[in-house]
Amino acid sequence: MPNSETLILGIESSCDETAAAVVRDGRAVLSNVIASQHDLHAKFGGVVPEIASRAHIENILPVIDEALKTAGIRTDEIDALAVGHRPGLIGSLLVGVSAAKAMAWALGKPLIGVDHVQAHLIAGSLDAEPITYPALGLVVSGGHTSLYAMDGSLSVERLGATIDDAVGEAYDKAASILEIGYPGGPLLDQLAQQGDSKNESFPRTLLDKNSLDFSFSGLKTAVLYRVRGTPQGRRGETAFTRAASDLSDQEKADIAAAFQEAASDVLITKLQRALDRMIDQHRTPKTLVIGGGVSANSLLRQRVVSFGQQTQLAVRLPKMDYCIDNAAMIAALGHERFMAGESDGFDLEAASTTR
Ligand code: KG4
Ligand code: ZN
Repeated sequence: MPNSETLILGIESSCDETAAAVVRDGRAVLSNVIASQHDLHAKFGGVVPEIASRAHIENILPVIDEALKTAGIRTDEIDALAVGHRPGLIGSLLVGVSAAKAMAWALGKPLIGVDHVQAHLIAGSLDAEPITYPALGLVVSGGHTSLYAMDGSLSVERLGATIDDAVGEAYDKAASILEIGYPGGPLLDQLAQQGDSKNESFPRTLLDKNSLDFSFSGLKTAVLYRVRGTPQGRRGETAFTRAASDLSDQEKADIAAAFQEAASDVLITKLQRALDRMIDQHRTPKTLVIGGGVSANSLLRQRVVSFGQQTQLAVRLPKMDYCIDNAAMIAALGHERFMAGESDGFDLEAASTTR
């Protein structure tokens, strides 16, 4: 059984970040080490799975060592190992899962598998107060855009998700169409600060009247056509009429600002719908929990804070370091499972999908 002070080592390798962290009692982050592979993937404009797996293999042990060293913790002081085992790139996940299994076996400590997307929902409690439930949850990342009704950190029901692109993916693609660099989300956020969204107009796809699902592919295509022009010609000979380099810096900034407005409007509209749904179901939430890379977006953070004020929900946004992929959130959700007396066997599998 857990002692009064619980130390969890978290390990994360689901996509292009190799990460390890030591977290005390589920919330106090003693170390949070992240080795990013962005430079390796930049020239391809996206994550190349084979390159990602190889880089994880090179990085995983040094990253774990550094997390322990920074935290000033010996391996025998750890109470359990938590690892993100789903969803993600299978070859990438396998590296973290294998390392966690090997350490758990060698140290004789419990192994705890954690769902990476659900871990984003607890990131707002890191170096902060515990989250009060029931909560309405939104994960906005490069791979996921999902709404959740949460009765507790381990009692999570998905209410809706994207039917095509994730919102982070749309940010990255819009940035790539504007040719402003990779990974695009943070760069588009910066560029939008200089833009005026009123000079452009983009669609808000809301699907059916009551739908809690998302679709961002239309917004992405609208940005493509605005930047490159409507394709001309027939069949195999269609071609765009313009290039991103034909736009002025001000036009690019205006497009970035209008794109952010459209994406944020959709997210806020769906939050309102999900809140109404929870109220109808007599599960009125006390808290709004947001997580995932796009929760670092400056406009979305402002919009979510005012939504919380209007609806009297306590808003829990992660600190910036815990928005993007990290192992501290894996340790935090692992801690919840540990305290509930849960753990996994050495047959824990890596899986590409979330539950
Ligand atoms: O959560 P995350 O690190 O990885 C996944 O689980 O997918 O999210 C990465 C995504 C990328 O699409 C990245 O462009 C986006 O989060 N992102 C942002 C910002 N910072 C990261 N998007 C908009 N504004 C930002 N400031
Ligand atoms: Zn993530």
